[in-house]
Amino acid sequence: MNSLQLQSFQASSISSATDLPGLFRLQRARRVSSAGLRIPRVSSCLASETKKKADPSSSGKPVSKETKEVMETEGSVFVRTYARAPLVLKSGRGCKLYDVDGREYLDMTAGIAVNSLGHGDPDWVKAVVEQANTLTHVSNVFYSVPQVTLGKCLVECSFADRVFFSNSGTEANEAAIKFARKFQRYLHADEKHPATEFIAFTNSFHGRTMGALALTSKEQYRLPFEPVMPGVTFIEYGNIEEFKKTIKSGKTAAVFVEPIQGEGGIYSATKDFLQTLRTGCDDAGALLVFDEIQCGLGRTGHLWAHEAFGVTPDIMTLAKPLAGGLPIGAVLTTERVAAAISSGDHGSTFAGAPLVCHAALAVLDKIREPSFLAGVTKKGLYLKELLIQKLGDSQHVKEVRGLGLIVGIELDVQASPLVDACRDAGLLVLTAGKGNVIRLVPPLIISEKELEQAAEVLRECLPVLDANIPN
Ligand SMILES: Cc1ncc(COP(=O)(O)O)c(C=O)c1O
Repeated sequence: MNSLQLQSFQASSISSATDLPGLFRLQRARRVSSAGLRIPRVSSCLASETKKKADPSSSGKPVSKETKEVMETEGSVFVRTYARAPLVLKSGRGCKLYDVDGREYLDMTAGIAVNSLGHGDPDWVKAVVEQANTLTHVSNVFYSVPQVTLGKCLVECSFADRVFFSNSGTEANEAAIKFARKFQRYLHADEKHPATEFIAFTNSFHGRTMGALALTSKEQYRLPFEPVMPGVTFIEYGNIEEFKKTIKSGKTAAVFVEPIQGEGGIYSATKDFLQTLRTGCDDAGALLVFDEIQCGLGRTGHLWAHEAFGVTPDIMTLAKPLAGGLPIGAVLTTERVAAAISSGDHGSTFAGAPLVCHAALAVLDKIREPSFLAGVTKKGLYLKELLIQKLGDSQHVKEVRGLGLIVGIELDVQASPLVDACRDAGLLVLTAGKGNVIRLVPPLIISEKELEQAAEVLRECLPVLDANIPN
């Protein structure tokens, strides 16, 4: 590996980025301390949405008339919330996507960690078509069999006793915020001011609505919309001492944490850190909420990411991959928490509709299979080996990290030129962190051959970074 070392770590100490089970680190001696520990990054970004508006002429490939027309129409009628890549996608099959001009792309984005079964999985399509032909939506005024079956299934395969469905990740966190507040009020009914505050962490991303946004660390996302929900304290991710000093009985209602941070730059918690959160919450009477919206449901090779650390939350939020591409969110919790919630406390018109729930059952049925999960672990290890083999010699690659098929490649420069070059070469990847991390979250069904292809394209495109100034 020339100047680079490959190391693997145990999930037992407190450094934020280095102690993930199965993590491989490219350690360039001149850039890290003698202890080999790295200073955690302090901010996060939904980098895929924050880079400059795509300029069709800036990409190496010519843009077709149809692509140009779609981009221009979008530019003239849409609120400018997204900086999209200059690509109009038309169809997908497995891990391949096709644009309107018939070009093929290998998808290492999975719709931002959503399409775990890839595009057009036959069992998923069958479930959707069958259910669309039977019953799509009825509202939560009534019962439906797919909703109840999915709820039962989620309870059976998790720590939880009860479930609540929403339509997205941010809504799942919004519900978790309300449940935590109501739990404290219910438990301390005789107190005038029960705990209402929250603790969240640097690099966190929990969503865009006012409560979830308040828990999201990046100021750039929050400041333009203040006042957001008050009472949130941010602590450095992984900092046990700071946490112990901050959590307060009678003040802290809940602690929100991603066991593996996605948007923030693919940083993993450690067993010690999560265990400290668990103990701190128990001692202070606060709830521990794991946001597994990006890292959950098989992506780490464990059904739930927290299983890798052996620490159990009071509430877990899910969304992205659960319905295989249809919008869904879920809050899983214990009987103790759910006892505080009464009818009318929360709800949604669309959530848990028969169509999405039937689709989610098709997803869950496949992903929860031990052989499927073992395949994710194996492919995750192979991907990291390939990346280290093929990219390890580059001066721009500082670290390869992640667990299962949520993998980050930290660079010493901004990643967007590499993302653009890969796209021109037929490979779709995302960024994360401060825009300096390549994020790979492919469909979980990806083959080893496709992983080899992805690593090879990344290798071929790396020289594009030579023209960029290091961070
Ligand atoms: C960890 C985490 N939580 C919450 C969200 C918000 O989910 P959604 O975009 O579905 O609202 C995201 C989205 O990227 C996420 O990664």
